Amino acid sequence: MNSQKVRNGPNFLQQVNKKKHVDCALSSNSESSDDEVDEIVAIKKDVQKQRFSVSAEAYGQFNKKENFKAKYIPKNKEQSDRIKQRMQAGFMFSALNDKEIEIVVGAMEEKIFHKTEYVIKQGEEGNVLYVVDTGELDCFKNYGKGDIFLKTYYPGESFGELALLFQSPRAASIKVKSDKAILWQLDRETFNLIVKEASIKKRQQFETFLENWDLLKEIKDPYDKLKMSDALFEKQFKKGDVILQQGQKSNEIFILEQGRVGVNKNNQKIFELNKLGEYFGDQSIVAGTVETFSYVAEEDIKLMYIPKKSYSSTLKEIQGTLMNNIQTKYVKYL
Ligand code: CMP
Repeated sequence: MNSQKVRNGPNFLQQVNKKKHVDCALSSNSESSDDEVDEIVAIKKDVQKQRFSVSAEAYGQFNKKENFKAKYIPKNKEQSDRIKQRMQAGFMFSALNDKEIEIVVGAMEEKIFHKTEYVIKQGEEGNVLYVVDTGELDCFKNYGKGDIFLKTYYPGESFGELALLFQSPRAASIKVKSDKAILWQLDRETFNLIVKEASIKKRQQFETFLENWDLLKEIKDPYDKLKMSDALFEKQFKKGDVILQQGQKSNEIFILEQGRVGVNKNNQKIFELNKLGEYFGDQSIVAGTVETFSYVAEEDIKLMYIPKKSYSSTLKEIQGTLMNNIQTKYVKYL
């Protein structure tokens, strides 16, 4: 194993831990000190450095792909279909093509765990990633003063990718919450050669956009920010295209990357969106109501979008802000 990477791994995670404390400090005292800002900049650089070393490794492995004989664990059709369905529900595998999906499904191994059993323990070495098939699991992280609950994992979600992406010890612990949990386990080699490369490319593709999206500054956990790019997709629209109709429910939150979007009510233009990061579809996804306006491309445009299914694992943390925004940004036009 490359010693440089081993050094980088824990360092990255320590920085992430430090950042968590900085964030706590920031939220209890809205005036950030220069030291804190310096620290955040240092963390960012470290994450960037880390990404570079990870991608260099992934691309370095490209040649190995030809010789790669994927692990294959026989499964019946019902099992394969279920894994595919679970993979589609999350976003870790969203960048894979059909052939890659078949390889990953073939390599998955079923693992059953019971209530209170640890699937992952923080600090241990990790060689596999898990996809939840059935059951619920809780994730805890120890920042030095005991475990802090972070989130619950549900079917379709995956975890344990950080140790594989960064060759670092497990960054959190994961314990079964329900009576039983059935998980699909993916080995390091298949992950490295099939999933990692696609995931890193996607993260790099959306990095600049994410750095400039104001709303993301509200998301405190650097891990959640890192994951956001997995949940993002890009779509292009031609001038005149109706992106979302008044009275309908949206299946996505759309975010403006470039161009102008006209916001219409009863076929009358009310206002327009023209700044990077302005978003819509939130009435449906965040508030669960139908859309009050139609959204029309006023020129050829590029939008980012987060599918509804990924909302709870990406933007839910800032649901309060999103709800407030709905109340303030639309009310003057109603
Ligand atoms: P890994 O470090 O391999 O093992 C523990 C997993 O917990 C980690 O990968 C992530 O998949 C998951 N996790 C969820 N939230 C966090 C978080 N805030 N920080 C680190 N890991 C997290």
